[in-house]
Amino acid sequence: MEVIITPDPVTGAAVVGDAVESLLARKPSAVIGLATGASPSPVYEEWARRHAGGRITFREARGFLLDEYIGLPPGHPQSYRAVIEREVIARLDFRPGAVVGPDGCTADVERACRAYEGEIAAAGGIDLQLLGVGADGHVGFNEPSSSLASRTRVKTLTSRTRRDNSQFFAGDPAAVPRHVITQGIATILEARALVLVAWGAGKAAVVARLVEGPVTAMVPASALQLHPNVTVVIDEPAAMELQLADYYREVFAGKPSPEHARSYE
Ligand code: GLP
Repeated sequence: MEVIITPDPVTGAAVVGDAVESLLARKPSAVIGLATGASPSPVYEEWARRHAGGRITFREARGFLLDEYIGLPPGHPQSYRAVIEREVIARLDFRPGAVVGPDGCTADVERACRAYEGEIAAAGGIDLQLLGVGADGHVGFNEPSSSLASRTRVKTLTSRTRRDNSQFFAGDPAAVPRHVITQGIATILEARALVLVAWGAGKAAVVARLVEGPVTAMVPASALQLHPNVTVVIDEPAAMELQLADYYREVFAGKPSPEHARSYE
């Protein structure tokens, strides 16, 4: 696991920008896993800036959402589909239909989950999966106690996550759907590279648990320790509780420069 500590989210987003830029240069048809929540926003802004500047194109690329609420009416502004439409699709040049997500409106949810796994496999798997982390350690919507072998399925949100996500629902936790579809932990771990971003002191405790704590279903994001190609990009406040923060800084500062352009395939 590589831990990169940056002074602020904008600098961290540039690190992720570099990763995506080098992936797309090597593989224009890359399959990119898209996350929602507040954390990826600076990353999407950075991609949009680079795209506007002619540095990157997503014309041949494909995208898969990580998760989705169940039961929001189609087009609801807080459905993850709508969020990705606004933050990613509207600002980049993905071809129509190239970005897909789990169907949270279907009557046959189990079938939708199986179909989603099939679509990811048919696309050749995900090259780079962007991730955030919930304050309780959830990744995607895999809440604590999720099986580390889980696949795309329905989950019930904890009251804490509904409270946290109520910021997107006019502050009303009751307006946050109780059920969601999420890629499972095993699904996420099949992506060829994982990049997790977290910003701010509010994420310091969970970052320490996911990077340096034991691998446990109680902190689903700790399962990332089992993956051979993970980059955790955080700002200084989010790094506050890491025991080996100085070591991670030393590793990054001392990296031979050709290695900075690491392979994300
Ligand atoms: C949501 C998403 C997760 C995200 C988490 C953290 O619950 N399903 O994918 O990582 O929230 O959100 P934020 O980035 O807003 O802190």
